[in-house]
Amino acid sequence: MAKNPVEVEVAIETLAVDGLGGGDHQERPIWVRNALPGEVVSARIVKRRGGARYADGQLLGTAHPERIPSACQYFPRCGGCVLQHASGDYQLAHKQGALAASLKAQGVEAHCWRRPSSLVRLGYRTKARLGVRVVGGQVLVGFRESFSNRVAKLQSCQTLTPELSALIQPLKSLIGALSAPASIPQVELAQGDDARALMLRHLEPLNPEDLGLLTRFAREQDVQVILQSGGYDTLQALDMGQGVPAIKPLAYQLPEYGLSLLFQPDQFTQVNALMNRELIRTALAYLMPRRGEVIADLFCGIGNFSLPLARSGARVVGIEASERAIASAEDNAGRNGLAHRCHFKAQNLYTPMEGGEALERTAQAAFGAAPSALLLDPPRSGAGERLADWAKIPSVERVAYVSCNPETFAADARTLAACGYRLHEVGVYDMFPNTSHIETLGFFVR
Ligand SMILES: C[S@@+](CC[C@H](N)C(=O)[O-])C[C@H]1O[C@@H](n2cnc3c(N)ncnc32)[C@H](O)[C@@H]1O
Repeated sequence: MAKNPVEVEVAIETLAVDGLGGGDHQERPIWVRNALPGEVVSARIVKRRGGARYADGQLLGTAHPERIPSACQYFPRCGGCVLQHASGDYQLAHKQGALAASLKAQGVEAHCWRRPSSLVRLGYRTKARLGVRVVGGQVLVGFRESFSNRVAKLQSCQTLTPELSALIQPLKSLIGALSAPASIPQVELAQGDDARALMLRHLEPLNPEDLGLLTRFAREQDVQVILQSGGYDTLQALDMGQGVPAIKPLAYQLPEYGLSLLFQPDQFTQVNALMNRELIRTALAYLMPRRGEVIADLFCGIGNFSLPLARSGARVVGIEASERAIASAEDNAGRNGLAHRCHFKAQNLYTPMEGGEALERTAQAAFGAAPSALLLDPPRSGAGERLADWAKIPSVERVAYVSCNPETFAADARTLAACGYRLHEVGVYDMFPNTSHIETLGFFVR
């Protein structure tokens, strides 16, 4: 056998949290895309790092009973998805298993498991950052290929909403026609309920012909084009000769609460509109806001949970690091007639500045009462070191925690348990079907 074969036969023993099938080759771990436990695959090694090998798999012999044909012709080469080869039920069981393992590792037991929630498997994704590369005169626009920095050769994408997917081909033609296609490293797409925006990163200044092409593209495709010459602070609306150019916010509705929220195309929003509604519905069913009670929505973004809480009768203190997000949250509260029930504050929640006493003071100053419940929706790094301070506020009795990272969720669940909370119910929500992303909602009661 060659010393460093490129293609090897591997028996797959496990499926890792990141969606790769795991086996051994020459007594070293090998991680294979498009492989499920119990299968034997032909693994084409595409990367070697730190003693491990990474490979693309091709099934040999009997398939795992939950293997399904990929809905996407670009899988497994395109790195946008890792689980297109597994049934939806299997993906959910796998994600729930990963969450259960994280909780077990932290010694936290859930009183009750909620059935994993899945509403839509394809065409759900309202946000994406796509790479752009020019290879041999051909423009590629897509996610990165698996295990590489190359851009996948796509004509469409099944996980993007059909409206965003439909932009991929016209974008390739547009970029190919610009004066310096190689100076466009990426585009970002964002979709609201009835409009789309495209943020075009460009490393070189665009000339008047380029701007003309972009204007025509914006009109023909009915998409807002935003230019980005550097960081996000350089975002600039394309001047289409219709008055002072300004970036137009996008909007999404939360019909159950009669709400419409505006957001800037570069701001954080949950990528899967239906699953977002399900998360809000379930978090509110857990918290059951009482009229007038004060609830703190920490890491509140543009008010995605704050406004439904306020609509349900609570008074909400929303805190979040981004001043722009707080400005949007305030604007959204005003537009929806909820300003009197919302108090928003821009604050880095990872600093000692916003411990339990500070949160109580903020709530007292805004509404004359301390919070009786918390809604947490932190970034991947988790709720941070102030969590115990907030949880120990004497008036707090319920915590709904939305998480995009089971490991930090489990570590924070342990902190909450040490503060006297029981994990009453927990479940996974398929926010990003076919990817390895795990979204969790847990409800803790003191
Ligand atoms: C997962 S998002 C949730 C946003 C919002 N709850 C929603 O549903 O749209 C996490 C939010 O935490 C904010 N954030 C990140 N680091 C933070 C920090 N250190 N302090 C406060 N907020 C932070 C981000 O700006 C982002 O809006």
